[in-house]
Amino acid sequence: MKYIVQGGLSETGLQGTIRVPGDKSISHRSIMFGSLAEGTSHISGFLEGEDSLNTLRAFQAMGVEIEGPTDGKVTIHGVGMFGLKAPEKALDLGNSGTSMRLLAGLLAGQKFDVELSGDTSLSKRPMKRVTDPLSKMGARVDTAEDGKPPLKIIGNQTLNSFSYQMPMASAQVKSCCLLAGMYAQGKTCVTEPAVTRDHTERMLKAFGCEVTVSDSTACVTGPAKLIAADIDVPADISSAAFFMVGASIADGSDIVLLHVGINPTRTGVIDILKLMGADITTFNQQEVGGEPVADIRIKSAKLKGIHIPEGLVPLAIDEFPVLFVAAACAEGQTVVTGAEELRVKESDRIQVMADGLQALGVDARATEDGMIINGGEISGGTVHSQDDHRIAMAFAMAGLRSTGDIHIEDCDNVNTSFPGFAELAATCGLSIKVLNE
Ligand code: S3P
Repeated sequence: MKYIVQGGLSETGLQGTIRVPGDKSISHRSIMFGSLAEGTSHISGFLEGEDSLNTLRAFQAMGVEIEGPTDGKVTIHGVGMFGLKAPEKALDLGNSGTSMRLLAGLLAGQKFDVELSGDTSLSKRPMKRVTDPLSKMGARVDTAEDGKPPLKIIGNQTLNSFSYQMPMASAQVKSCCLLAGMYAQGKTCVTEPAVTRDHTERMLKAFGCEVTVSDSTACVTGPAKLIAADIDVPADISSAAFFMVGASIADGSDIVLLHVGINPTRTGVIDILKLMGADITTFNQQEVGGEPVADIRIKSAKLKGIHIPEGLVPLAIDEFPVLFVAAACAEGQTVVTGAEELRVKESDRIQVMADGLQALGVDARATEDGMIINGGEISGGTVHSQDDHRIAMAFAMAGLRSTGDIHIEDCDNVNTSFPGFAELAATCGLSIKVLNE
């Protein structure tokens, strides 16, 4: 699939009141915890994207009865901590790093062997970051060369609780350790070098599992038990981010995004855009299932370049592709440092974004751990998303400011996190055509 976004400076920008699809991180966790819980859990607002559907299919393949999704509603008949069954074949997790890394922790404590595999992009991503701590706990996980997938988990091991100091800021690694910790005897603690998303900690509590958090350490005590819960999944701030940037950079924009998750471990994108001069207001704040949500209004604004504070990087880690587009439209220079994790996402997001921005005439230079971008004109041209959903959507928004048309190759994977993106963006005023080829 390919996108063609018509350039030529829109006058009305993005308009309307919309709700973007459900949060991907929370959707994954709702299936995992609902499956391991005792009783029936009802999920609403579930993301019907390929990544979270891969998690859902994995649990169905392990014998969990799951109904839906229908209009974002899923019913999970939990089987308890030890009720999963050995799947008949390897679990194919497609493009989803979250599925693979969290499942590695959760399956390390089962009585059966299981293999986790993924698509070409996932097969290149580092898994030593989870297999290292898991082997310290006594788990047995074999990998392909260099710690890459597929992962072969050998079941029936006794897991030991432990305290782990994570070498990188990663919610997936933290969650993997905590989930394995639920199967170990005693207290497992994970300390992170910088704040990362805490959906696992919050949702485990909602499922009745005691998780203690103090400063940068989260602990769980095993053997743990989960009790069914109902989860209302908020709209994904990472998907909302495309519209926040689009509305900021396009003259005349005024858009409202409904029921967006504003967990403080995820709101770096709002803080960064505000530092750049964006006009963003949050209102109707409420709490659903332990997660704060709000409606967000964004109007167009004149953005200025900044040095993005490194402390905000992990809080906006998935939003950098579109933040680079914001930087290209800002006046002056934007410098991103401390973002080397971007190199091991669904694509090398530093290189792929720098290549694409340069193809559109932007003065952007990749550095080892970030990028230096001098704002200016964006021309038309052809860019490659390298099968990375967030790269494709980021460049689609660049069309709101480009002087010519932008052709974006390899857009199929937008379906992993944001089914219906092009259609929704079009209703708000983006001139986007989808070519199925
Ligand atoms: C996620 C954590 C982040 C993020 C990913 C989802 C999660 O990854 O990039 O999209 O749901 O825990 P890292 O933990 O590798 O930073």
